[in-house]
Amino acid sequence: MAAQYQESQVPPQDGKTVFITGANTGIGFDTARVLAEKGARVLLGCRDGPRAKAAMAAIRQRAPKANLKWIELDLTSLASVQSASEQVLAEGHLDLLINNAGVMVPPKTLTQDGFELQFGVNHLGHFALTGQLLPLLKQQPGARVVTVSSLAHRGGKIDFDDLQADHRYSRMKRYQMSKLANILFTLALSEKLTQAQCDLKAIACHPGGSNTELGRHLGPLKFLFLPLELIMNSSAEGALPTLRAATDPDATTGDYYGPAGWGEFARSAKRVAIDPAARKPELWERLWQASEALTGVNFRF
Ligand SMILES: NC(=O)c1ccc[n+]([C@@H]2O[C@H](COP(=O)([O-])OP(=O)(O)OC[C@H]3O[C@@H](n4cnc5c(N)ncnc54)[C@H](OP(=O)(O)O)[C@@H]3O)[C@@H](O)[C@H]2O)c1
Repeated sequence: MAAQYQESQVPPQDGKTVFITGANTGIGFDTARVLAEKGARVLLGCRDGPRAKAAMAAIRQRAPKANLKWIELDLTSLASVQSASEQVLAEGHLDLLINNAGVMVPPKTLTQDGFELQFGVNHLGHFALTGQLLPLLKQQPGARVVTVSSLAHRGGKIDFDDLQADHRYSRMKRYQMSKLANILFTLALSEKLTQAQCDLKAIACHPGGSNTELGRHLGPLKFLFLPLELIMNSSAEGALPTLRAATDPDATTGDYYGPAGWGEFARSAKRVAIDPAARKPELWERLWQASEALTGVNFRF
């Protein structure tokens, strides 16, 4: 049996600059921690200053020389996305963008720009961020965009007739839709980069089931998930598919990584299959056009 992938297999990251959204807790935090321990300069895209600073202090406890910077980023606001992008562009160098931040099953809420929260934060904010950082990423040989999806993308559907849930809102269906959008975005981006003969790779991943703060909106339903916590990944284990997608020298554009254990629910990381229902270029293009129109961000390949 092949050895299980682990943190120690992440290659040295000296000289690399990484921007991770939602890096103050959960999977984003552990991804930031490992990449900083391996020598990368890590820019933490977080909306809350005290939480970002606490995360940086926790990373420095493990890696006193960690090279870290907080970039204020609230994905509910396209203005905030633009301002964060400008700060990252000013770095003049970016090897890796990790679109990790996410929200799951909140009560119906709109972003500052009027988008349904899960679609707005999980997909549209990251779409805009990636488009604005593309010029910098394209300059860097071997650069990657890694987007964190979920097992929940399976069975998801993009409700093109009601993108902002004006007419009906199901918390779980909207989460599934946003996570399917992460996959469709990665496949579309990968295809467009390949057509433009651009070296940049677009890769997706998912952390299986990981014990993080993601369930904060579950309310009393949280108790139903308690038995699962016994077999769930820790947040550090949940970060392994992201770390592998971000650094495995054998990864190619359009790949998808997830846990290696039964049902991709937990343990380690390996390349996994994308739901065939997501392999539909006409669907990628429809979502792409809608996302450009909604965010006003046009990608220049
Ligand atoms: N945990 C799982 O089992 C699981 C399974 C499948 C997929 N995922 C995916 O994994 C990713 C990370 O989730 P997690 O489990 O680590 O959850 P988490 O512990 O709740 O962390 C989510 C992160 O996203 C940030 N975030 C939320 N809304 C934001 C906004 N408007 N602007 C900027 N940042 C925002 C949070 O910041 P605050 O702390 O300020 O709220 C936090 O840093 C998500 O994309 C999630 O969909 C997780």
